[in-house]
Amino acid sequence: MTQIFAHRGYSAVFAENTMSAFIAAEKAGADGLELDVQLTKDGEIVVIHDEKVDRTTSGSGFVKNFTFNEIRKFNANKKGVKKEPMPSLTEVLEWMQFNQLVCNIELKNNLLPYEGMEEKVIQLVRKYNLSNRVIISSFNHYSIVMCYRTAPEIEIAPLFNERIYMPWVYAQSIRAKGIHPKLVSVSDEIIKGAMENGIAVRPYTVNKETDINRLLSINCTALITDDPVKAMEMKKQYEKRP
Ligand code: G3P
Ligand code: CA
Repeated sequence: MTQIFAHRGYSAVFAENTMSAFIAAEKAGADGLELDVQLTKDGEIVVIHDEKVDRTTSGSGFVKNFTFNEIRKFNANKKGVKKEPMPSLTEVLEWMQFNQLVCNIELKNNLLPYEGMEEKVIQLVRKYNLSNRVIISSFNHYSIVMCYRTAPEIEIAPLFNERIYMPWVYAQSIRAKGIHPKLVSVSDEIIKGAMENGIAVRPYTVNKETDINRLLSINCTALITDDPVKAMEMKKQYEKRP
């Protein structure tokens, strides 16, 4: 049955990419999380979507220009009442020792190069023995190929917005076991074609009920949604159908 991945955690309700959003996604019964990582000035992998801290935190400036201690002083939970620091990837992987979630780590290195990011992420995933519960994705396909070459035991998945022709052929050519397409760029036929060729398909970002139903009805591998509570409820209803 289609797996439900919480996009930036349960971001429909909680501040995106915070421990609160991840804990809420786990409580909702999601199968997995999707989160974004950037690199601080002193080489810490931190969980934040944008290259700059402005939109999601109380701070201002580029992630790459702050040390980890500096960036932790900003409030990453502007949506909530309680202040919360931006999580490090270490913190998330430590927490994953106490649950069974799968974690899709999106390397946000398609705009800034973040030299050494791949090795740092792999080192952490291995340290916490999570190679079989992590999927590394990126719009930077050179980066995920580098990950595969360094750590073939960790699954990789290219992210893309375009309507690629036979994307499973491309995925196989870079040794990816899955693809993470933008929802509008894949038809049912493409999804089925990929799955029939052994390639997992996890479209993003799937929030509308009609789209969730569409993917459940073709038993798509997974869907990445801001609202794991709604998606889990719909999945349960779907499973009950005769
Ligand atoms: O990983 C799927 C999706 O998160 C990619 O786009 O901009 O939400 O990180 P974005
Ligand atoms: Ca993302």
